[in-house]
Amino acid sequence: MEVPFLDLRTQNNGLYDEVFTLWQEIFKSAGFIGGHHVSSFEEEFAEACSVKQCVAVNSGTDALRFILIALGVEAGDEIITVSNTFIATTEAISQANGKAVFVDIDPETYNMDPGKIAAAITPRTKGIIPVHLYGQMADMDPILEIAKKNNLWVVEDACQAHLAEYKGNKAGSMGVASAFSFYPGKNLGACGDAGAVTTNNAELALKIRSLRDHGQKIKYYHDIEGYNGRCDAIQAAALRVKLKHLPDWNNKRRKNAKLYEEGLSFQEGLLLPKVLNECLPIYHLFVIQVDNRDSVQSKLLKMGIHTGLHYPVPLHLQNAYLKMGLQEGAFPVTEKSSKKILSLPMYPELTSEQIGYVCNCMKEIVNGA
Ligand SMILES: Cc1ncc(COP(=O)(O)O)c(C=O)c1O
Repeated sequence: MEVPFLDLRTQNNGLYDEVFTLWQEIFKSAGFIGGHHVSSFEEEFAEACSVKQCVAVNSGTDALRFILIALGVEAGDEIITVSNTFIATTEAISQANGKAVFVDIDPETYNMDPGKIAAAITPRTKGIIPVHLYGQMADMDPILEIAKKNNLWVVEDACQAHLAEYKGNKAGSMGVASAFSFYPGKNLGACGDAGAVTTNNAELALKIRSLRDHGQKIKYYHDIEGYNGRCDAIQAAALRVKLKHLPDWNNKRRKNAKLYEEGLSFQEGLLLPKVLNECLPIYHLFVIQVDNRDSVQSKLLKMGIHTGLHYPVPLHLQNAYLKMGLQEGAFPVTEKSSKKILSLPMYPELTSEQIGYVCNCMKEIVNGA
């Protein structure tokens, strides 16, 4: 049996008519930039995330970068985040002139360990960016408490957590502002690059609207230098169609996670994902830990099962960050898990037969059969 890591084509087939009707309308009207699909998507996504404002931009990276610039990050300002994230988190910090300061993670949720934050705070610290990795929100209560005590802002990197919940709060609604990615493979994916900022702060939203459009509120009248960071109408229309399906798709992912848990629990040598109390993950990825990960991964591939690594090398050990001068051993939990993590196929359209096959193959490999 062949089990792809991700299968967007099956999902696309079911949306063809709805998406193409809107795209025809856009093509005929030639209204490619801005327009009612962008503003309607912003309203709909804000409502879905229980926030007042959404600003659609052209990637999750831009969403993070624009938030940091709008918050007034200045050269040398320190921002605390984690090393086991996609490089976009720290690219945005550096490109906004800030300095990323890493803290270690919780060994079972893979999210920021709030107990490690206090020691990382210095007089230059301005904020914290927890990353809601794999679709589970970071432990926001203690993070927000430490931030409040130290007069820091919190920006959520919610790029992998569309509609995830923490104690009844939606991802994207707990920090001063939050970044979402609609990269095609995300739970809510565009048909190209797109992203969004959510916030309850109207002033911040206004600054980000200006930043995404060359610093202009009125065409050709530039208050500041900005960027070309808009979300185009083609993407917004597809996202509007997909957003209606997102709660159902997230439920299907949760059902699939349950099937994996049933199929793989009690299997020695495997660590399954841990869900925090009162949290509702959306399983952007289903990540387990296993010894001899690389060999397990290649054996699975020979059996037709495609897997991923998120992420194989922590950021502090990447060539791009050699200049930070951090060595192996700086963040032991992050480093240890990076050698054992394995992302199994996870998407709403995955069948129970496919999951059963993955579980059986995995057991066969781990038991050495
Ligand atoms: C945690 C995280 N942060 C930021 C990003 C950047 O998003 P984008 O690829 O839309 O720029 C991504 C997505 O790839 C991500 O997974």
